[in-house]
Amino acid sequence: MRNLIALAAFAVVAAAPQLASAQDAAAGQRVFAQCRACHQIGPTARNGVGPELNGLIGRTAGTAPGYNYSDAYKRPEVASKVWSEENFTTYIRDPRGVTPGTRMVFAGLRNDQQITDLIAYLKTFAADGKPAQ
Ligand code: HEC
Repeated sequence: MRNLIALAAFAVVAAAPQLASAQDAAAGQRVFAQCRACHQIGPTARNGVGPELNGLIGRTAGTAPGYNYSDAYKRPEVASKVWSEENFTTYIRDPRGVTPGTRMVFAGLRNDQQITDLIAYLKTFAADGKPAQ
């Protein structure tokens, strides 16, 4: 009996991360509504007011092909930055504080759960916009 309970508990724990990330991504899609005026994502995404955001987590800052970044993105400390989850979180809390002079006119996200959800959503897209494996 004890073994069975242990097994059941293990199954719940093992299933939880996947479940949670699927829910996060769905919630993150709703957060992304705030970005859509300027950013596209997915297989048909193009640069708009802002660069397309496919494969963002793990991408080097300022490298969306064909997008004309502001001078703020040409500064070495910005251009050498990789969009890790940590860097992205710091940035999206206060884009213009973190990257002075950026053309991204967005106040920032204050809610950490929203940021976590948004990252889960961004990570569902590979660099070519197809579903990430
Ligand atoms: C009003 C338009 C606007 C909104 C809204 C906006 N952005 Fe941006 N974003 C931009 C622009 C313009 C740039 C390019 C900045 C530059 O060149 O200075 C940018 C750049 C970025 C970058 C850097 C991309 C790269 O290739 O290095 C990220 C990441 C980003 N935005 C994420 C977001 C997210 C996530 C949201 C929503 C929570 C958002 N943005 C909302 C306009 C916007």
